[in-house]
Amino acid sequence: MDAALEKIERLKRERNAVILAHNYQPGEIQDLADFCGDSLGLSIEASKTDAKVIVFCGVRFMAETAAILSPGKTVLLPEKTAGCPMADMITAEQLRQLKAKYPGAIVVCYVNSTADVKAESDYCCTSSNAVAVVDSLPADKKILFVPDRNLGSFVAERTGRDIELWPGYCTTHVCITEDDIRKARQKWPDAIVMSHPECTEPVRKISDELLSTGQMLKFVKKSSAKRYIVATEKGIIHALRKENPDAEYIPATERAICPNMKKITIDKVIASLEELKERITVDEQIRVKAKESLDRMIEILPSD
Ligand code: 13P
Ligand code: SF4
Repeated sequence: MDAALEKIERLKRERNAVILAHNYQPGEIQDLADFCGDSLGLSIEASKTDAKVIVFCGVRFMAETAAILSPGKTVLLPEKTAGCPMADMITAEQLRQLKAKYPGAIVVCYVNSTADVKAESDYCCTSSNAVAVVDSLPADKKILFVPDRNLGSFVAERTGRDIELWPGYCTTHVCITEDDIRKARQKWPDAIVMSHPECTEPVRKISDELLSTGQMLKFVKKSSAKRYIVATEKGIIHALRKENPDAEYIPATERAICPNMKKITIDKVIASLEELKERITVDEQIRVKAKESLDRMIEILPSD
């Protein structure tokens, strides 16, 4: 085994640590992780692990979610500046103002949000269970969906519900254009276009499948197709190749790279385990309220 990986294994044993990685992480980080998955899978894993230390290879809101769900554990983010621009597109104060405008409405927040925003929300969701979460809510209630307007409008299309959208978006997924998909389809007419619901409406409209990253992995495992055009962050292609190596995966565009996800390196994982940094904590009052919305989310699994 490579010296760096041996060191990580030794440190993990010494610290009683587990390494969780999101599907958008660099390939070498996905390969060294104990568990790799989508946001819902990672939240579930973080809530049930026996390890004392969780090294979260992802972005800040993911590590914060782990800290909310596992209060007794040390949660580490190997790179403190790895944030999510979408999560920062709404503050708790802005959400309070929105709630005041629509009294009686139910707030559903995408897990890509700060702990403060989760604490102000009724339900949390991920892209894999957003439709199931909204479907479970009383039919006569208005829904406020924050912060992703693209995931929110996808959920409105699928559920037919009255949803007030917040104008947030993923800076990486909006780089994927309708033109990218059309050009890729012309070049590879036999390919299945799999897009993430964070993509814009014109991209979603001309896609074959709209799936979270975890759902994409399940889809290629079952499908007999030999070629896929992938409209999401490029890191997923590493995971797709591992899941179904016989198929070909074409990124819809080379521009779909999340710079924050790519800040995690092997050296930073080692430093994180050695020095127990960057420790992610959440104020206890906020944590307790945020956990309620996350617990409600974990109870509602996607129907697939
Ligand atoms: P999923 O892996 O849950 O599809 O999330 C996508 C994403 O953008 C995470 O930041
Ligand atoms: Fe945030 Fe988009 Fe990066 Fe996911 S891919 S962390 S939503 S900026």
